[in-house]
Amino acid sequence: MIIDGKKVANKIKEDLKKEVSMMQIPPTLAVVQVGDDPASNSYIKAKEKGCSEVGINFKHLKFKDDINEDELILEIVKLNNDKLVDGILVQLPLPNNLDENKVLNTINKDKDVDGLTTINAGCLFQNNITLAPCTPLGIIKLLEEYNISLEGKHVVIVGRSNLVSKPLAMLLLEKNATVTICHSKSINLEKYTKEADILISSVGKKHLIRQDMVKDNAVVIDVGISRDNTKLYGDVDFDNVIKKASYITPTPGGVGPMTVAMLLSNVVKAKRRLCNDKY
Ligand code: GUN
Repeated sequence: MIIDGKKVANKIKEDLKKEVSMMQIPPTLAVVQVGDDPASNSYIKAKEKGCSEVGINFKHLKFKDDINEDELILEIVKLNNDKLVDGILVQLPLPNNLDENKVLNTINKDKDVDGLTTINAGCLFQNNITLAPCTPLGIIKLLEEYNISLEGKHVVIVGRSNLVSKPLAMLLLEKNATVTICHSKSINLEKYTKEADILISSVGKKHLIRQDMVKDNAVVIDVGISRDNTKLYGDVDFDNVIKKASYITPTPGGVGPMTVAMLLSNVVKAKRRLCNDKY
């Protein structure tokens, strides 16, 4: 069965649209971009479209890649202090001359709709979830929507990013899954992937996951994206792996739309918390 991320995302957006329409002042998301990376441009466009669909104001701050760290930090502080801004997202990756950790940690934790500040990551680690990263939230939501239980299941994650894999592992543990994280230095990757009841790949390498690496009836969630020229590829060799999987996400149309939907959900949540539900 193909998991339809677009359909689930549309349902979430419908609910958010209703909630936003009841607010006196709609929420505002500020996206900070440094440079002109084509992939980032397309992700930001998708976020802007999502905001307009549910009635969230969208503010795009785009800086040249020669902006220095102090200038960028000052811009984020301005957004922290702006009462009309509810959510702040710094699009990654940043150019190498900027300290990603320092820049992200400038964001006020209550406006950190990507859940990437050290404090929000720590809260997630301690099961005290306020704002968690959007892609992991979207994956959990997709599994719930398709009634795929996690309790006691062996979930194997390929990839170890702060953006996806590590926070995802925490959310899965909270749902009582058994979690294995593999990465590029794992010896004999297929030994692990073949053991997975639920296999989640978040690497960004075309067709890394082949049919022979997947157990019969496994659930396969494809998060990774790679591009050649204009075509998008997932990590999973979809046309072959689908023959073995019980459920599988396509790329595009799987996890991607869920990331945007959960970002919008985090913006509404941040607004709700910032104004103590009085809107
Ligand atoms: N770059 C690619 N995906 C994302 C995301 O979800 N958030 C941020 N901040 N940067 C990204």
